[in-house]
Amino acid sequence: MTAADDKKSEELMSLCKRRGFIWPSYELYGGIAGMYDYGPLGFSLRNNIVEVWRDIYKGREGFTEIDTETVNPREVFKASGHLDKFADKITYCTKCGAPFRADHLVKEFYSNPDTMSEKDLDQAFLDHNVVCPDCGGKLGPVEDFNLMFRTNIGPGSSRVGYLRPETAQGIFVNFLNLYRYNREKLPFGVLQTGRGYRNEIAPRQGMIRMREFNMMEVELFVDPEDKTWSRFDEMKDEKLTLLPNTGDETVEMTVGEAVAKHVVANEVLGYFVGTTKQFLVRLGVDPARLRFRQHRKEEMAHYAKDCWDAEALLSYGWTEITGIADRGCWDLTRHSEFSGADLSHFKRFDTPREEEVEKVKPNRKSLGPAFKGQSKAVAAAVEQAKPEDVKDGRLTVTVDGKPVELGSEMFTVIKTKEKVNGERIIPNVIEPSHGLDRIFYTVLEHAYSHDDAKDYTVLHLKPEVAPVKLGVFPLMEKDNLDVLAKQICASVHTARAAAVYDGSGTIGKRYARMDEAGTPWCITVDYDSLSGPQKDTVTIRDRDTAAQKRIAVKDVPQILDDLLTGRRQFTDL
Ligand code: GLY
Repeated sequence: MTAADDKKSEELMSLCKRRGFIWPSYELYGGIAGMYDYGPLGFSLRNNIVEVWRDIYKGREGFTEIDTETVNPREVFKASGHLDKFADKITYCTKCGAPFRADHLVKEFYSNPDTMSEKDLDQAFLDHNVVCPDCGGKLGPVEDFNLMFRTNIGPGSSRVGYLRPETAQGIFVNFLNLYRYNREKLPFGVLQTGRGYRNEIAPRQGMIRMREFNMMEVELFVDPEDKTWSRFDEMKDEKLTLLPNTGDETVEMTVGEAVAKHVVANEVLGYFVGTTKQFLVRLGVDPARLRFRQHRKEEMAHYAKDCWDAEALLSYGWTEITGIADRGCWDLTRHSEFSGADLSHFKRFDTPREEEVEKVKPNRKSLGPAFKGQSKAVAAAVEQAKPEDVKDGRLTVTVDGKPVELGSEMFTVIKTKEKVNGERIIPNVIEPSHGLDRIFYTVLEHAYSHDDAKDYTVLHLKPEVAPVKLGVFPLMEKDNLDVLAKQICASVHTARAAAVYDGSGTIGKRYARMDEAGTPWCITVDYDSLSGPQKDTVTIRDRDTAAQKRIAVKDVPQILDDLLTGRRQFTDL
């Protein structure tokens, strides 16, 4: 981070605090690193970002949205692998006891310290004389630190729970419900937005590394043998800046070229990388400061087979703001294994196939004398058994709730030809997972401009996400100018499209306040609005050009709606 970058992020955070976008949490009690509250402007901006995401994934793609619990029982994360694998490397100073993320302490010496083992990091401390940054003490041995917050469900510690580190697991554990809801067909997509929790060792980058954070996740369940996407043609011309894991150079290519040249593995992944670009640019992320970087094998999350991060260039450097991962069949296979439930999809063949299958057949001649009156029930149970249930030539079936062990004379495993209509497969998951707070911060940083000479700040927020859409001012708060300004404000203000009345200070100050909050347009009521040839008209000012036009009061609601939906541009007024 250069001094200029430092200054920029400090100025932006100070603006965020002053204007009510973001407040450090618990400041009253000294604050806690990595925790922030959203103020009124920030909360509106964040909600508007979520609405754009919904518009794309629920609206355009037709996926469904759910909301699941944030506290999960231990079993969920044992199955998902987070309990064993979701860890950062930690070291404690042997003198003052301060904890540090071990890889962060050696990042100036290695290009990928986050992939180093405990042993390598211990050695790196010795090789480079790395000591405690706080007191100069010797650093202790590097160990794994699981990032999940642990809790108890109910009194005592009989049921251990964890706060979810991703919303995704809530979708996977509901797979059967969702599968039925989607009429047992693939592909289908499910979205969820909500909190995730990671007990970061030493969060230092403002909103980039929060301990309690907001996510917008999409889980797409697809046929593992068919990673084509029906709407791929609509996306194939979208241009991408890609940094594949095969080299250090970025390449510019369209989604279509990237898939055709196998830079991006398949159409589903390509379509959603393209969708992510469209989503981020629509929010106001600068395409020139956006790239997609493929994870190297050793940095991939434990569940991922492939992953492309959308990275934005921020004052912190290139920063991951979204990950589009191919999770393969990891999650559903693991939840099947750990829960015992069948989480497969029945894939119907286009035409039924004749296949040789193995079946277990009861030997009724042996069962009759051995089981007498019960023999029919035993035979029925044998017919339900699978060849793999036969162990060491013996088969155990359940009859009337009791196990019955059968010797090899009681049954035969036969091969027979059968008409097979389909097969059971475990769906694969493609996951565009968005870090909402990071996207929020990126939108602010890319919108932020400060004229040092005039000491003037403008947030060039896209109207769709701007927290306030319109400022309405009376030239003076007297002579009924204020009455008309308040009427205009009330006529357009809604929860989704906020208008704000401001009558205090000079007009210049009021424009400056609105520019700083990212409000795209302001209306001023002046004396011409009340009488004379321009009666019943007002001026409307455009934030980005400071151009002004005169419009009829009665047209204000329609004009605002047209500007917001993009039906008309300011220059067309
Ligand atoms: N679900 C993606 C992530 O946890 O980053």
